[in-house]
Formats: sequence, C-alpha cells, structure tokens
Amino acid sequence: TDAVPFHGEHQAGIVTPAQDRLHFVALDVTTDDREDLVQLLQDWTEAARRMTAGRDAGPVGAVDGSQYAPPDDTGEAIGLPASGLTVTVGFGPTLFTTADGTDRFGLAARRPAPLVELPGFPGDQIDPAISGGDLCIQACANDPQVAVHAVRNLIRIGAGVVSVRWSQLGFGRTSSTSTGQATPRNLFGFKDGTDNLKAENGSALDRFVWVGDGDADWLRGGSYLVTRRIRMLIEPWDSSSLDEQQRTIGRTKGSGAPLGQQAEFDPVDFTEQVDGRFAVPETSHVFLAHPTNSGTAILRRGYSFVDGSDGLGRLDAGLFFIAFQQDPETGFVQVQRNLRLDAMNEYIRHTSSAVFACPPGVRDDGDWWGRALF
Ligand code: HEM
Repeated sequence: TDAVPFHGEHQAGIVTPAQDRLHFVALDVTTDDREDLVQLLQDWTEAARRMTAGRDAGPVGAVDGSQYAPPDDTGEAIGLPASGLTVTVGFGPTLFTTADGTDRFGLAARRPAPLVELPGFPGDQIDPAISGGDLCIQACANDPQVAVHAVRNLIRIGAGVVSVRWSQLGFGRTSSTSTGQATPRNLFGFKDGTDNLKAENGSALDRFVWVGDGDADWLRGGSYLVTRRIRMLIEPWDSSSLDEQQRTIGRTKGSGAPLGQQAEFDPVDFTEQVDGRFAVPETSHVFLAHPTNSGTAILRRGYSFVDGSDGLGRLDAGLFFIAFQQDPETGFVQVQRNLRLDAMNEYIRHTSSAVFACPPGVRDDGDWWGRALF
C-alpha cells in the first residue's frame, strides 16, 4: 500500500511527496565500454522496479539461492514494506565528456546544452572530493534502512562498471512537495517548504521543472537535479536573537508566516512596513529567493544531515539541498546569484556541488533509464 508507482511519464522522487529519509550517491563510471554502461542501466532499472514495489533486488532473493554464490539481495530489507521508496537516476556532465575532453561512450554530441558544471559563487567552500559525478542515484523512503538497502544493492550490481564517488545520508525532509503535506522544519528551527513548487501546480511544473521541447529530445519529461551540501553554522545561529533569526529568514519561527502577516500561507507582501521599515527585510532569505525578486522558481526537495561533529566541538550539520528545475542556469544558478547578499550567508557554507540531467520516467516493463539517450 505504501509503494510509489515506479513507471510513469516522469521519474518518481521529484514531485511525488517528499519522504522522510534520503540516501544519495554519486558514482563514476570506471569502464569505457558503452555496452557495459547500457547493461548497467537496464539492470538498475529492473532492480529498482522490484525494490520500489517492496521486493528483493533480484529474482531469487537474499536467502533462497545457491549456498555457494553471493545472494542477489543483501537481505537487510527482508520483512520491511516498500516504505514509499523512490529511486531517481541522473547523468552528470562528465558522463558525456570527461574533464579532459574524452568522449568515452560516443555521447558527447548528445549532451544537453544546459548540462554544464555549475559556476562558482562568492563564499563557496566546495570540496571536489564530495562534488560532481558521472551518475547519481537519489533514494528516498520513509525508513532509512529501505533507502540504504536500495543504494547498497544498486552499487553491488554496478561492481566493475561504477565506483562510488561520494554519498550523503539525510533525515527530516526540509521541504514539502505536495499541498497535502505539513511543512517540516529545518535545523535552524524554521518551517521549510512553505512556498515551494508543489505537485498540484501543474502549469508551473511544466514551466519550471520539466524539460520541454527546447532541449535534448531524449530528456523531454526529465528534469535537472542540483545538489549542494550546505553546512549550517549551528552554534552562531543558536546564539543569535529570535528577532535576528526571523529577520534573516523573513518569516516568523512559530507559524512560519511571512513577517508582517498572520498565517503560514499568507502571501508575502514586500511593500508592508512596520515601524517605518520593511516587514520583510531586503536582505532576508525569503525576500531574495522569492520569485518576485529572483524572477524564477525551483522545486526544492532537500534533507537535513548531521554527519557527527567536526573535531572542534561543533556539529557537522546542515542542509543537503536538492533542487529540480527545467534548466540549471535559469533555476538554481539564477536564485543562488540573487542570494549573494542574503543575510543567511553568515550562517551557512556550501561544501559540495553537483548537477545531473534526470531522464524522463520509465514507461513500462520493457523500458529502462536513459533508453532514448542510447
Ligand atoms: C525559502 C531555509 C538554502 C531557495 C526558504 C525558507 C526557509 C529556507 C526557512 C522559508 C520557507 C519556504 O518558503 O520554504 C533555507 C536554509 C538554507 C536554504 C536553512 C541553507 C542551509 C537555499 C538555497 C536556495 C534556496 C541554496 C536556492 C539557491 C529558496 C527558495 C525559497 C526558500 C526559492 C522560497 C522563497 C519564496 O518563494 O518565498 N528557505 N534555505 N534556499 N529558499 Fe531556502
């Protein structure tokens, strides 16, 4: 009952309701054999089709196969339901052309023009070791064990063809992607996702999220995925006043209402003044990120993370930011440029960055991820 349909026009895990847990992995392809890559994508599709339905990764299963061979499922999800698992796959710029310009798979001419490495932004502290990747897998579920099981088995199936470049666990979705979902809170304690693009905004999704006619044919119905691991400087934030926190975000911490308004979903009013100054400060995050001022919209689907502590007595915590958009340049890049003077920048550091083109959905049992590309 809690299985999310795997087949469809679009991949699940984009506008389907955001689950509670994330396991995201970026991989590099270690072969230059095109047939091996195609076989991998077919095998991944088959395994994901099974796991999202709550079944083992392979047809034999974790315990019913030969005593003398590794099982075709690793076993830790035995007895667990589908838990809303979605598996979303994306292709990085380096799948099409490596950094030194090599066209390993004969795909260079098929690279969609918008699929280029993201530019640098002021204040970036990007670590290349946890950035980029030829391929990505976003596994989301309401049970962390189910998300981890999915990623682990796909990595196992990819042995000899791909190797893990970096990965990230996330908890506590920091967005809602459906009007039926309550808005969760991020690690700053604020509701996050109030003014997100939602599944119900059909025409806005066609305009801002799904790739349409103007881009590569094989990507129509797909979307671009941007990830940014954003460290949140929890300790300075926690010692700032409530007023400073609210003026940094531009919303109240309690209800999530825009400053100067009453309720969470009241429209933001940038002309409203209180005591002779704008209720929503021009340097606040909401002011600068809002479509009125950024000129665009993105679908956010991020997760919180706490990767232990940093050895200096501080939590290594933050937001693993995920955004889907029709074009990275007119989506994330445009918003992020507009956040240059964001008051929140004092409290955050971007530490990893990646961009991927997510192909359209797998249509039926004969279809597989990226079929139209190859
Ligand atoms: C809104 C937090 C990073 C884009 C918000 C809101 C919060 C928030 C609390 C208000 C509630 C809502 O409407 O969802 C954070 C935190 C971040 C972060 C803690 C980093 C740790 C980013 C980044 C971008 C971004 C990197 C894009 C470049 C947006 C957008 C909105 C928003 C587009 C909606 C604005 C509106 O339409 O009113 N964010 N955010 N955020 N954020 Fe962020």
